[in-house]
Amino acid sequence: MQSHLLSPYQRGRLRLKNRVIMAPLTRCRADNPDWAPTSLHAEYYRQRAGAGLIISEGSPVSPMAIGYPYSPGIYSPKQVEGWKKVTRAVHDAGGILFCQLWHVGRISHPDFLGGNKPLGPSAINPGTIQRTLKGRKPTVTPKAMTVEEIHHTTEDFRKAAFNAIEADFDGVEIHAANGYLFHQFLAKSANIRTDNYGGSIENRCRFLLETLDAVTREISPQKTAVRLNPYLHNNKGIDLDDETISLFDRLVDRLNGYDLAYLHLTEPFTDITGHPWGHPEVAKHFRPIYRGTLMINKGFTFESGNRIIKEGFADLVAFGKLFISNPDLPERFARGAPLAEADESTFYTQGPKGYIDYPALPD
Ligand SMILES: Cc1cc2nc3c(=O)[nH]c(=O)nc-3n(C[C@H](O)[C@H](O)[C@H](O)COP(=O)(O)O)c2cc1C
Repeated sequence: MQSHLLSPYQRGRLRLKNRVIMAPLTRCRADNPDWAPTSLHAEYYRQRAGAGLIISEGSPVSPMAIGYPYSPGIYSPKQVEGWKKVTRAVHDAGGILFCQLWHVGRISHPDFLGGNKPLGPSAINPGTIQRTLKGRKPTVTPKAMTVEEIHHTTEDFRKAAFNAIEADFDGVEIHAANGYLFHQFLAKSANIRTDNYGGSIENRCRFLLETLDAVTREISPQKTAVRLNPYLHNNKGIDLDDETISLFDRLVDRLNGYDLAYLHLTEPFTDITGHPWGHPEVAKHFRPIYRGTLMINKGFTFESGNRIIKEGFADLVAFGKLFISNPDLPERFARGAPLAEADESTFYTQGPKGYIDYPALPD
């Protein structure tokens, strides 16, 4: 079979050796006082440098942005030094990598925040269970952000983007998906504000777009990407609503104006077939709307990934779990080799087990 996934991709400044992208994957291995990446991270990412592009695990942009144990941040000098080890290892192995900039918003827990409440658009508890340093705990009601806190957070993203380039990342991906901070502002189920950041579609998109403006001014649009999960439903307190379709149509159309590195979209996490407020096939819906590089993710295989590129609905395909257990995933695709299955019990643990011990194929 002619492989679309294994063919190079070039558009603007983005030059990729293949279209098999490593999706962002939180792995909780930065269990040191600085929550900084270490040589363990460098080895893990180096093993996966055969990807057309690696997107790093979500990297908190400030202490308030943290929501998972030991997720390596991108706000302190020690973290930047740690990430330099990672970027050097990946670049030396011929790979390229973007840093995913992350703020979990109301999905955090006071345990991470010195006892303070997490921040969110409105004081609405997402009603979910979250991992903390002391096991799984129910989420709490967040503090509704002041306008000052919103502006401050935009500034945190701008600085984090600067830090990512300092650390020699090739670009950044703003995490606006999966029910975290920006997604909370976009969704009526999490945002009932009555100021400029709530209510109308324009207002609910404002925080993300202001942050995108700040980040693209800092590091250039060609080094900036955005991740969205438009039809997330019944997940982390986010539900489809009567304006979800029009909001994401307008938002994605607005992104056409930025000349971004790429737009990363996720197919729905749950089956929304027949639901009046969402489309079950994300790539097919958004391809005609978005004119730049479109990356799609969730549940793809070699066959379905090739097919979606061939049909013209996406340019790049991101693989998550398959990259956890198959560090040489593009090579396995090329050779038609069997794929190893990931061990979920080590997704969020610490240390090398289940992290750097999945073998590559012998030469
Ligand atoms: C262990 C694990 C950690 C994840 N961490 C992140 C993350 O930090 N940021 C993000 O945007 N998505 C994250 N995701 C979602 C993945 O990027 C991806 O959307 C998901 O695994 C579905 O793709 P797949 O079917 O190819 O695995 C994570 C998923 C898993 C399994």
